[in-house]
Amino acid sequence: MNYRLSAVAQDVKASGVREILKLTQGDSIISFAGGLPAEELFPKEALRQAFDRVFQQGNRALQYGLTEGYTPLREAIAMRMGQKGMPVSPSEIVLTTGSQQAIDLLARVLIEPGDVILVEDPTYLSALQIFRYHSAIVESVQTDDDGMDMAALERKVLARKPKFIYVTPTFANPTGRVWSTERRQALIALCRQHDVLIVEDDPYGEIKFDPSASYPSIYSLDARDGGGAVVYTSTFSKTVVPALRIGWAMGHPTMIDAMARAKQAADLHSSSLDQQALFQLLNHFDIDLHITAIRMEYKKRMWLMHDLLTQKRWDGVRWNKPAGGMFLWMTLPEGVVAEDLLHVAVREGVAFVPGAEFFCGAPVKNTLRLNFSHSSPQALEAGVERLDRSLQHYLNESNRTPILT
Ligand SMILES: Cc1ncc(COP(=O)(O)O)c(C=O)c1O
Repeated sequence: MNYRLSAVAQDVKASGVREILKLTQGDSIISFAGGLPAEELFPKEALRQAFDRVFQQGNRALQYGLTEGYTPLREAIAMRMGQKGMPVSPSEIVLTTGSQQAIDLLARVLIEPGDVILVEDPTYLSALQIFRYHSAIVESVQTDDDGMDMAALERKVLARKPKFIYVTPTFANPTGRVWSTERRQALIALCRQHDVLIVEDDPYGEIKFDPSASYPSIYSLDARDGGGAVVYTSTFSKTVVPALRIGWAMGHPTMIDAMARAKQAADLHSSSLDQQALFQLLNHFDIDLHITAIRMEYKKRMWLMHDLLTQKRWDGVRWNKPAGGMFLWMTLPEGVVAEDLLHVAVREGVAFVPGAEFFCGAPVKNTLRLNFSHSSPQALEAGVERLDRSLQHYLNESNRTPILT
């Protein structure tokens, strides 16, 4: 059979790194690679009870549902968002199969082949894949610790007339970066002035380590000015369980209606059984208390990983201490190639994601992403030991100066 794949499908190649990471699925590898939440914290019993409650409602609970999603869950999300300074009516929300689908639907309804999309550099790898799948031209904007450089962004906006700007302003994947409030406000002002839509992807905003810290979403800041400049997406993957695959998008009805029509073509609706169970869970379980437990545990794990790395006293290796989320971002000495290091690391029994994967512009090859949320404290300790051995082997093999001081 001559399988005549579309040009795009042929063009989107399997990444070499993904192939290596497939080897890391077994128990013998400690993986700091995946963006996985801690399984020990999954609210398994509460979820089981939630599903029981749905089944007690009889056969109707197992029927097809609305494309936009289970209405009581949309109402519950609208209420929750309102409490966080993000006013939205249930009709301005579409429930999606994870926030991944929300990004895909946005791409479907917005992108014409050749449209320019602007992103931070580095940025979320799977968003890059989606935009490329829709034949967009994805371009990066210079980004520092406070967010996108606004002068650079304005130059790009004027020169490239982007269709939208995709940002993850709170505990970004992969960097853990948080945009300052000033940059968030400046982004809104600039996008309003030039009539460019902002897509705010916020899967990690709830996972903040300092409960009193405030990181107002771009959506909430825009809402104070009447709203409409932002489509916001988030998910229950990090706060409940990823297996539910429940996310949502919210924004102007024009956008939400278009996304719902695209969703109908894609999958009719996300699992209504899962949506009903999540609604029951939100009604009978203290999700905020649960989120507090996640925050405390991830903060402990982030600090443990940081302390273990510090004890290694590697010369010329830097990493950040994120204020939330699930990732540390590490920069190795100039000339070290994180992808080559990964080959050695997998032999030593530890994995991470080389940072080059996340860049849309020129890849910075001596960077890597470490996930700290998934590994137990014991695994964190053993994994950092293995990482240390990998670095030493890598440096010996490549005849470079050892970086252990
Ligand atoms: C930045 C970002 N956006 C979206 C997603 C997709 O999450 P989900 O589809 O599980 O909601 C992820 C997953 O890790 C992510 O890191």
